[in-house]
Amino acid sequence: MSTDYTSNQQIIEAAHKSLDQEIWDFIGGGTESETTLRRNRLALDQIALRPRMLRDVSDIDTGGTLLGHDLTIPAILAPMGNMKKMHPAGAVEAARAAAKFGTVQVISSTSQTDPEEGASAEETNKFYQFYIQGDDEWVFDMLRRIKGCGYKAFSFCVDSAVMAPSANVKLGRWIAPKHRTNPDRINQDKLTWDRLERYRDAAGLPLLVKGLTTAEDAEIAVARGVDAIWVSNHGGRTLDHGRGTIECLPEIAAVAKGKCEIVFDGGILRGTDIAKALALGADTVAIGKLQAWALGAGGAETLQRSLEILAAEFRMTMAYLGVTKIQDLTPAYTAAATAVGPAHEMSAFPGLADNRLT
Ligand SMILES: Cc1cc2nc3c(=O)[nH]c(=O)nc-3n(C[C@H](O)[C@H](O)[C@H](O)COP(=O)(O)O)c2cc1C
Repeated sequence: MSTDYTSNQQIIEAAHKSLDQEIWDFIGGGTESETTLRRNRLALDQIALRPRMLRDVSDIDTGGTLLGHDLTIPAILAPMGNMKKMHPAGAVEAARAAAKFGTVQVISSTSQTDPEEGASAEETNKFYQFYIQGDDEWVFDMLRRIKGCGYKAFSFCVDSAVMAPSANVKLGRWIAPKHRTNPDRINQDKLTWDRLERYRDAAGLPLLVKGLTTAEDAEIAVARGVDAIWVSNHGGRTLDHGRGTIECLPEIAAVAKGKCEIVFDGGILRGTDIAKALALGADTVAIGKLQAWALGAGGAETLQRSLEILAAEFRMTMAYLGVTKIQDLTPAYTAAATAVGPAHEMSAFPGLADNRLT
C-alpha cells in the first residue's frame, strides 16, 4: 500500500523493483562522467544548517506560491520526458498527485507531445515546457495551443541547445526514442534571448527560463523581463563538469531576488534540501528524479505519498531551524560544511548512500 511508505528511501527501493532496467537507467543517469549529477548532491551536502532556538514554532506555515499559484510546500513537479515509461498514463498520472497534494505541475513536450492531452488531466495548475521543433510559426502555433487549453505559464529549457549523447554507461543502455535520432525534431540550437522575448510577448503567458546557472545570464533574464528564472543544470543530464546547482544559486539570487521569481532544482530529495535552497534565495524548488521514482513505484498514490513525506520533513526542518514562514529562511541559516559521505543521485538516504541501486 502506498500509504504505508514512511520514507522516500522505501519508495526508491520499490521503484527499483518495479521499473524496467532501461527506464531505471534513464531516470538516474547523467551525462558522461556524471560529475554534474553527483555535484548536485555533493554541493547540497556541503551546506550545513544553523538552527535558532527558543522561538515559538507551534504554528508553522509551509505554504508557498509560484507565479500566484498556491503550493502546499514550495516544491513543484519538474518537467520530464518519457513519463509513459514510468507509468502508462505518464504526466496525466502525475497530475492526479499534483492536484491531491496541492502543487503546480510542469509538463514536458517529450512526455505529452500534444499539450491538449496533458491539459485534459486532473484539475491542477499546469505549466507547459516544450522543446523547439520548428520555425517561428511552429512556435507561435504551439503558444496559441498552450494558452488555449488552459496552461498557466510556459517554459523553455535553455540548457539543451543540443541533446546529450548517451555516452554514460547507464544512459547508453537507454534505447533512444525516435526524436533523438531525428535532427528536425529538435531545433533548440537556434534559440536566442531575442527569440525568447518575441515568443514571450506573443504568448501572453508568464515565461519561466529553465536552465540558468550564472549571474551574467540571470542579469539578462531580469533585464528582458522574464517572470521566473529556473536555476537548473537539468539534473546533470546536459553539460557535464558543471557546478552543483546550489553553488550557482547565491550569485543568481544576488542579481535576481525580488526582481523575478526563482525556481531551483538539482538533487532535491529531502526537506532539508528545500530549506537550504530557500535559505540561499530560491522561492520554489522542483522535483525531478524523486517524482519519476515515485511514479514508477506506484503511480499517483505513491507520488502523493512521496510529496507528503517531503512535506513532513520540510515542516520538521522549519521547526528545528526556528522559522514559521518560508520567507524567514535566509543565508544566515546555512554554513559551509564538509560532506560526510559519497555523493550520487540517491545518496540522501543512509541505506542507499553506500549501496547505490544500479
Ligand atoms: C527522467 C528525466 C527526464 C527529464 N526530461 C526533461 C524534459 O523533458 N524537459 C526538461 O526541461 N527537463 C527535463 N528533465 C530535467 C528536470 O526537469 C529537472 O531539471 C531535473 O530532473 C532536476 O534534478 P533532479 O532530478 O535531481 O531533481 C528531466 C529529468 C529527468 C530525471
